[in-house]
Amino acid sequence: MDKEIFKNISYGMYIVSTKLDKPVGCVINTLIQITSDNPIISISLNKENYTNEIIKKTKTFSISILNEDINPNIISKFGFNSSKDVDKFANLDYELINNIPVLKEGSSGYLICEVINIIDAETHDIFIARVKDTKKLNDNTPMTYKYYHEVIKGSAPRKAPTYIEKKNNHEVWECLMCGYIFEGDIPDDFVCPICGATKDSFIKK
Ligand SMILES: Cc1cc2nc3c(=O)[nH]c(=O)nc-3n(C[C@H](O)[C@H](O)[C@H](O)COP(=O)(O)O)c2cc1C
Repeated sequence: MDKEIFKNISYGMYIVSTKLDKPVGCVINTLIQITSDNPIISISLNKENYTNEIIKKTKTFSISILNEDINPNIISKFGFNSSKDVDKFANLDYELINNIPVLKEGSSGYLICEVINIIDAETHDIFIARVKDTKKLNDNTPMTYKYYHEVIKGSAPRKAPTYIEKKNNHEVWECLMCGYIFEGDIPDDFVCPICGATKDSFIKK
């Protein structure tokens, strides 16, 4: 199977958030609008992600639709760390709506959702959810997954559904600060485009 073809599937970029005792959340690209009357959406979450574990308890979550102009450090914080270890919401512009954290920084709007079904998909769970409320925040351009890869030059971590194993026919370097992957000869003055770390923070894979 040539997994490269999966890169031709288009997605947006989102942060899904919820709260039991503290706000938790992670980056996702796997959101689909399923129906429009009394709208239903679905998201896919890895069973190892802490956000999955907490949404199973709260049965509610918010979706922030990320813009192209979002600070890439927010994607790195929410996409390459676990809420189990890190307070991802510290120092960020967010609001609690019905006790659900909603990240507003770098976002063009949000959805407030209530889980109506969970489908087992082996490594992942698919959460089907009713959209209870929405708000548009601005007209900035929403970020696509392609933009994230091609312009921000970000990667997807192992726990993302769209993760693709790197072919080892050339050097692959990983940023220890945020998980960003650089492929090829890394220059001495290289600076991580996601978190700003210098070459010293990269390890050869
Ligand atoms: C671009 C990108 C897309 C991602 N898409 C998903 C996704 O759709 N589903 C998922 O479970 N994880 C996805 N991830 C991975 C999670 O964001 C990541 O595993 C995160 O550290 C989980 O945090 P948590 O343990 O606080 O839930 C994605 C990460 C990135 C950077």
